[in-house]
Amino acid sequence: MCGIVGYIGYQDVKEILLRGLEKLEYRGYDSAGIAVLNENGVHVFKEKGRIADLRRIVDPNVKATIGIGHTRWATHGAPSRVNAHPHQSASGRFTLVHNGVIENYEMLKRDYLADVEFRSDTDTEVIVQLVEQFVRDGLTTEEAFRQTLSLLKGSYAIAMIDAENEETLYAAKNKSPLLAGLGDGFNVVASDAMAMLQVTNQFVELMDGEMVIVTSENVTIQTLNGETVERKPFTAELDASDIEKGTYPHYMLKEIDEQPFVTRRIIQKYQDEHGGLTIDQAIINEVLNADRLYIVACGTSYHAGLVGKQLIESWAKIPVEVHIASEFSYNMPLLSEKPLFLFISQSGETADSRAVLVQTNKLGHKAITITNVPGSTLSREADYTLLLHAGPEIAVASTKAYTAQIAVLAILAATAAKAKGLELDFDLTKELAIVANVMEMLCDAKEEMENIARDYLTLTRNCFFIGRAVDYYVCLEGALKLKEISYIQAEGFAGGELKHGTIALIEDGTPVIALATQEHVNLSIRGNVKEVVARGANPCVISMRGLEGDGDRFVIPAVHPDLTSLVSVVPLQLIAYYAALHRGCDVDKPRNLAKSVTVE
Ligand code: G6P
Repeated sequence: MCGIVGYIGYQDVKEILLRGLEKLEYRGYDSAGIAVLNENGVHVFKEKGRIADLRRIVDPNVKATIGIGHTRWATHGAPSRVNAHPHQSASGRFTLVHNGVIENYEMLKRDYLADVEFRSDTDTEVIVQLVEQFVRDGLTTEEAFRQTLSLLKGSYAIAMIDAENEETLYAAKNKSPLLAGLGDGFNVVASDAMAMLQVTNQFVELMDGEMVIVTSENVTIQTLNGETVERKPFTAELDASDIEKGTYPHYMLKEIDEQPFVTRRIIQKYQDEHGGLTIDQAIINEVLNADRLYIVACGTSYHAGLVGKQLIESWAKIPVEVHIASEFSYNMPLLSEKPLFLFISQSGETADSRAVLVQTNKLGHKAITITNVPGSTLSREADYTLLLHAGPEIAVASTKAYTAQIAVLAILAATAAKAKGLELDFDLTKELAIVANVMEMLCDAKEEMENIARDYLTLTRNCFFIGRAVDYYVCLEGALKLKEISYIQAEGFAGGELKHGTIALIEDGTPVIALATQEHVNLSIRGNVKEVVARGANPCVISMRGLEGDGDRFVIPAVHPDLTSLVSVVPLQLIAYYAALHRGCDVDKPRNLAKSVTVE
């Protein structure tokens, strides 16, 4: 959601900015723009739609070596060329891009900018107008920038240029992600390392409340009090090829296919010297010390949390509650005496989850973040981090991060169980290795999944997913995948709950996808399938080997019964993918959605 890039150096900046923005496309956006500065002044190009649309309007003859760029996901003001960033001050001297939400922008407008005519509906324009106002009052650009930042309430990552100074780029961060990147004769800023991997792999983290003065030779980090902060750079351990599609038509398909590999990498990363799987002892001590775990997450990560609860409760016998982050922050449940928080977030940047972490930190409770992104905000601000090692996930619809989250939660549950003397009666390393092999077989079953998508989902306007026990949780995820990318209204239901209302929606031909991977509920879910068939539904049963029945559409090779979620989700991901493809949807960048939701 919203992405920022900025460059100052010696190369022509347009292509660097555009390529950087393309790497940020995955975050979700609806308009984009760049501003470059040369001896003739500032040149702003912005457009509603895709980076490809922006490329078409960028004047190839304009050459410059300093510039900023932005992808916007509309919050204040509709997606349009006028509301797209960069925004300029009234005189055109200052040009700025911003990611985040300025909560007090109306108050700032009223108190400081009553005479200024605003061009856009955005909260962002207030920032750039304030800088100009303070410069007019006699401050230098740096002082005016600092003064402006000290008035802002809310979240921001900002990059700004001054038409009267080709030598300096100004940036700042609070709550929204921003990194500085270091080069030889140039320096950059970007919302994430991927955007600037094209020019450097050396980055410096920025903390909330810091501003940065960037020249082609130096990156100077300061607090808002003007104190200089020294911080060592780190090497971004990303391979440029990790963020390319290669021969795949879509990132989503590539990422679905990467799941067997990611599962094997997790086994390897969490292996101890005896070949078993283990988690840092300090984390396990926290788990054992707690009387209840609180899992907090959003979207797909929330769905992984539901499966995690099942594993932790049944293996380690520790009570677990799973909460939607955006609800938890405003409606906190009564906490147990010794709670331990587990934040699950692919990106590690989700504002709703972060809002809860800020609260639980204030209350003095310990927290663990399970994330794919080392150094992300949720990782930095929690006491401990467990990494997913899934590699960059670019498609908006999360796939490999979901299975990686469940695999890591399984290792956490098993290690905690062992520490409590509740040894599992199977070898988790071996069972996860079997899971990886079965995932591979499922990834090879693309044709069958494409046929299911064609037979059931080509014309329908809705679809139901039903399952019991852990299959229910996977159904929630399968339905989310389908609705996110194909726009078919899809809902996941507990098999037994359908008859208490939702069955009224079943009509002739309504597709109902049922999961049957759990022996203890196999008969009941098949009973539920009969109920919907009697009302005209078109059933598609996906079962596990050993539990299959007549007429099942697809049978998944067997894995350990506690680990079925890791494999049963794969057919659902592929069905969603092909349904979206056949309907002509933009699979990797579905409408209205963002990959990393950095506003509450
Ligand atoms: C967005 C994405 C979802 C994701 C959710 C949580 O809504 O579109 O795919 O599941 O955020 O993201 P996180 O990075 O915290 O896992």
